[in-house]
Amino acid sequence: MTQVLNEQHIYVAQLRELSVGIGKKLTIAGLELALFRQDNDEVLAVENRCPHKGGVLSDGIVSGEHVFCPMHDWKIDLRKGEAVAPDVGCVKTYDVSIIDDGVYLLMD
Ligand code: FES
Repeated sequence: MTQVLNEQHIYVAQLRELSVGIGKKLTIAGLELALFRQDNDEVLAVENRCPHKGGVLSDGIVSGEHVFCPMHDWKIDLRKGEAVAPDVGCVKTYDVSIIDDGVYLLMD
């Protein structure tokens, strides 16, 4: 269910629907995103396409604030969106707000 809190915050999930260590894929307005719940219940959101060759990051192995792409094992920093050196490239990141257990994405 997609619900708009205001013109920029879009409701995407309940926090309890997300599991620490497992990415969740979702599509908003034609954009495929990946959500990653952290130990402290913060949620990090990135574009769901690896900057290398488009691997699906939500299917990757999660390690805290990083995910390992399932295609060729690049390590992506979920907070910055950047591939960890020696690899290079970047995915778009999205700001997330948690309001009353609802997860909202800030879209620009
Ligand atoms: S597509 Fe992600 S590492 Fe190659």
